[in-house]
Amino acid sequence: MPDPVIQVVGIRKTYGALVAVDEVSLDVHEAEIFGLIGPNGAGKTTTMECVEGIRTPDRGTIRVLGLDPVRDVYALQERIGVQLQQAQLQKRIKVWEAVHLWASLYRRQPGIGEQLLAQLGLTEKRNALFMTLSGGQKQRLFIALALINDPEVVFLDELTTGLDPQARRAIWDLVRGIRERGKTVFLTTHLMEEAERLCDRVAIIEHGRIIDSGRPAELVERYCPQRSIVLVTDDANALERFGRIPRLRDIARQDARYTLSGTGDEFISDVIACLSEHRMRVSDLRTVVPTLEDVFLELTGHSIRD
Ligand SMILES: Nc1ncnc2c1ncn2[C@@H]1O[C@H](COP(=O)(O)OP(=O)(O)OP(=O)(O)O)[C@@H](O)[C@H]1O
Ligand SMILES: [Mg+2]
Repeated sequence: MPDPVIQVVGIRKTYGALVAVDEVSLDVHEAEIFGLIGPNGAGKTTTMECVEGIRTPDRGTIRVLGLDPVRDVYALQERIGVQLQQAQLQKRIKVWEAVHLWASLYRRQPGIGEQLLAQLGLTEKRNALFMTLSGGQKQRLFIALALINDPEVVFLDELTTGLDPQARRAIWDLVRGIRERGKTVFLTTHLMEEAERLCDRVAIIEHGRIIDSGRPAELVERYCPQRSIVLVTDDANALERFGRIPRLRDIARQDARYTLSGTGDEFISDVIACLSEHRMRVSDLRTVVPTLEDVFLELTGHSIRD
């Protein structure tokens, strides 16, 4: 396996008495979308900014593209793109001026900036002053600026916070496009749906420590193997027949609506076999598959939004 693009080993970062990040280790591989996920104050931005070379960890080692983010900061700047969670520009700079300025800083053609504005749906705002942009438009502008040097590694901190669902989807597509071009994406989010849909692998961080990491589906399988089927039937013998399903763990009934829970994918087949064997009439049926949200709940004992 080739060397990871980002390698973090045992970093710790304190602010006075507060331990913001502790014993954090992670690898991010080429052309993957890696998400650091966790609630507010978990240590996501601190970790990411250590990797970007903006903050220096108290201990531990970090390599990005084989370089040291603090010592080799200038060499790295050319090869990475950074979207900060809290960034500002001059109030009166125009959108097109910002992208042209960024392009010139990286010695790129201004056309690449115009192209990114189009991709991010900002063309009609190209003459607008920065201070007149909405939160979501600012967010998209910062993503455009992060991509202007066609970086090998892109850092996106809370990339879709404050965006409406439609803009969020557009950003997801854009990030997938970055991966398709062979680039590596390191992002943070506290949106579990975003992590699940977008990330190849995630690390869950809470109180500065990584609790576990893996592919979203892997984590769901590991911590929430439970599957449920909710169905509606007026079959008089339903309860008794469902009771004989091999991998059934639990059954709940509310009038004609049954919720059957069991473990593993096989369980779904077991339920379908039971329905067909007894030719039961079913007027509604859906499966409930656990999500990263459930994994988080299982791991920490509370929902990510609490
Ligand atoms: N410059 C700083 N000085 C002092 N404390 C800080 C500083 N930056 C972060 N912290 C603290 O470190 C902890 C981790 O903060 P961090 O910004 O890394 O969290 P986060 O996971 O990015 O949160 P969010 O989801 O709100 O962005 C928090 O308790 C925060 O208050
Ligand atoms: Mg943050």
